[in-house]
Amino acid sequence: MSLLSEIERRRTFGIISHPDAGKTTLTEKLLLFGGAIQEAGAVKSNKIKKGVTSDFMEIERQRGISVATSVLAFEYKGIKINILDTPGHKDFAEDTYRTLTAVDSVIVIIDVAKGVEEQTQKLVEVCRMRNIPLIIFINKLDREGKDAFDLLDEIEQKLKLIITPLSFPIGMGFDFKGIYNFWEKNINLFSGDSRKNIEETIEIEDINAPELDSLIGETAANILREEVELVTEIYPNFEQEEYLNGHLHPVFFGSALNNFGVRELLDCFIEIAPKPQPKESDTRLVFPDEDSFTGFVFKIHANMDPKHRDRLAFIKIVSGIFKRNTPYLHVRNNKKMKFSSPNAFFAERKQIVEISYPGDIVGIHDTGNFKIGDTLTEGEILLYKGIPSFSPEHFKYINNADPMKSKQLAKGIDQLMDEGVAQLFILEINGRKVIGTVGALQFEVIQYRLEHEYGAKCIYENLNVHKACWIEPEKSNKDELTEFKLVKSRFLAKDKLGQLVFFADSAFTLQMTLQKYPSIKMHFISEFE
Ligand code: G4P
Repeated sequence: MSLLSEIERRRTFGIISHPDAGKTTLTEKLLLFGGAIQEAGAVKSNKIKKGVTSDFMEIERQRGISVATSVLAFEYKGIKINILDTPGHKDFAEDTYRTLTAVDSVIVIIDVAKGVEEQTQKLVEVCRMRNIPLIIFINKLDREGKDAFDLLDEIEQKLKLIITPLSFPIGMGFDFKGIYNFWEKNINLFSGDSRKNIEETIEIEDINAPELDSLIGETAANILREEVELVTEIYPNFEQEEYLNGHLHPVFFGSALNNFGVRELLDCFIEIAPKPQPKESDTRLVFPDEDSFTGFVFKIHANMDPKHRDRLAFIKIVSGIFKRNTPYLHVRNNKKMKFSSPNAFFAERKQIVEISYPGDIVGIHDTGNFKIGDTLTEGEILLYKGIPSFSPEHFKYINNADPMKSKQLAKGIDQLMDEGVAQLFILEINGRKVIGTVGALQFEVIQYRLEHEYGAKCIYENLNVHKACWIEPEKSNKDELTEFKLVKSRFLAKDKLGQLVFFADSAFTLQMTLQKYPSIKMHFISEFE
């Protein structure tokens, strides 16, 4: 197959949700449709399976949280689907943000009873900033939940999205009878145990057919007809162009656990979801169908084998064909590298691949050469943009607890930062090291990993910082900046790239500082134009 047709048939996306909304369950059902796994209704063993196959780190298994982002690929109706799994736990949100730089679209899961939850709100905000096309799946319709129209309102308001339902539920919870599918213009009736057989749903073609009354009862049938009319009146018509631009977001209803509404979602997804998209670099926009291979590292998994300090760097292929044993330029290091055993991921297996296409993810064994955001090319000097660091929410001094192991500690910290586990800042005034994380849990992860992987011990010391603000000196008034640096010297640090950062100890201080030094350009993410 040609490069072009391989690109056409690829869909790379992520699933995001608040924990417990059903991400794991939906992922499993999608794999089931793709024939990538065989056990229908294997959700019960899912957590165990997840532990064995998609979490590589010992610590993840210990904590039972899917800390890491994994890749699951499968084929469905001739389409190669790559799902980039994202940790739902809020402490690992930064992992999810980074994964969002490697997807072309996203499915958002919302629990019908809980509605829009905090984590969903945050993650959708990041998607909105990038205009990522979103499909919303409202899950757990087999349970009592919020009224469908109320929920659609809530999504519009809290997620600030323009939406249009492409399916609509018939009843809910105990009375859940099925789904009207606007996309396929048919009805699927819920048989209650569709878990046993994924094709076991009844289809009828016409909403006005008397057959519907006899199947779901006259009252339910009439309510559905009214609701369908209302949906058609209230919500915009679905336009694929609008969806692809990130301006209109289709909504589906279903029950992942009961495998209901999942096929509808998947069938629509493969038709409308974007194929691999061009990506902006520091020099130009790179198109997937260009002859030369380019790609970037969006994730590093460490501790694949606790006995060795080996890591797997996940590379998203942006353009051209990636070939095994071919020398590629590691742009940041200006070094040619060959990869003898690049891994591709097929559902639960990983296997060495000879070639991969745009949209695909390959995992490369790394001995410490890669950092998050690194670019590989066939020789062109370009760096992919769009893996910024967000301001951490928790800050602590990190101190050496074992003077004999200071080298190990320094190396450990360095490598963990390259992986993007947390951010390191060095205080300008005294050179002390400060670790900043999105979640409190990462401090434990770092401590555990420093000890088990590097043989180093650390202790933390509290530090009161509300936000890290990146300063852009070139765009700030020189005199003001000099004064600011003098007055705030105790609160200034450098990040890993040597960029100047101001630690504001409270929202109030931040506001006062912004007022006092209006010309100083401050950013809350590390990458700015
Ligand atoms: P997550 O990855 O987003 O955190 O969610 P996960 O799929 O693990 O689902 C969280 C819980 O919600 C699980 O129950 C799962 O079975 C349940 N669930 C998922 N989809 C549906 C659905 O459509 N209907 C209903 N009623 N429940 C659903 P659990 O009790 O936490 O785990 P388990 O013991 O069932 O595995």
